[in-house]
Amino acid sequence: MPGRALSFGVMAQAYERFRPGYPAELADAVLGYAGRPVVTALEIGAGTGKATRVFAGRGVAVTATEPDGAMLAELRRQVPADVRTVRAAFEELPPGERYGLVYAAAALHWTRPAGRWSRMAALLDAGGVFASFGGPVRLADPAVEEAVRAARAPFLATDEVPSPDGTPPEEAMQWPGTELSRSPWFSDVQQSLIERRLTMSADDWIGHLSTVSAYLVLPPAERKRAFEEILRVLPATVEVDADLTVHLARRNDRSAP
Ligand SMILES: C[S@@+](CC[C@H](N)C(=O)[O-])C[C@H]1O[C@@H](n2cnc3c(N)ncnc32)[C@H](O)[C@@H]1O
Repeated sequence: MPGRALSFGVMAQAYERFRPGYPAELADAVLGYAGRPVVTALEIGAGTGKATRVFAGRGVAVTATEPDGAMLAELRRQVPADVRTVRAAFEELPPGERYGLVYAAAALHWTRPAGRWSRMAALLDAGGVFASFGGPVRLADPAVEEAVRAARAPFLATDEVPSPDGTPPEEAMQWPGTELSRSPWFSDVQQSLIERRLTMSADDWIGHLSTVSAYLVLPPAERKRAFEEILRVLPATVEVDADLTVHLARRNDRSAP
């Protein structure tokens, strides 16, 4: 899906404005799991820096990496000046430097599966932590969701990203925990949920949809019509489920790729 993976930059400012940020609870979960001070972190697919700010704010020296120049330019406007930035996709990151934490916020599914975990392990100190977090942002009211589904149907069947390894939603361990559990380089794989319920105006919900890759790759005229049709069925404000699923794992001491 390279077209979809690099579709965000055109909407970098909308992304910054309409996508929810990440709560302090997330940093508590990741840094608590580490069980030792986390001094350096590498962020994959940092976007406009929403998660960068959370970890930099906790005193971690974050290197934020992002392949899309427009996203990275917005990130630079949003994060403290001492955050290091690198314009690169995960696959382009040179091995060599290692970090106490490597994390991806709503970005890991855009990376290439081949060699993903050996490359990840090569970026981590022994005993270092890998974290991936994100989740669908959905309308909480089933009746509103159904009305939107019908309004969207002529343009898009679904606007969600499917599980990268096809794990059914009812399975206890979801991707990427599934892959991490099978990887020889990682152990102590944990999955947890941070529950979030947000309220947005209908216009802001459309603003949010304008940053979702499934809409970004529609021809502009169709995208405009889709948003008009969806806006027509929305109440003035919408309740939104934005639960975060967090996956954590530790790089084994013994195996250094
Ligand atoms: C949904 S956005 C998430 C941005 C940010 N991490 C956040 O949580 O707000 C996904 C990001 O992954 C980036 N991306 C796409 N392909 C990538 C790859 N192969 N390696 C690293 N990042 C990638 C996109 O440019 C985009 O900024």
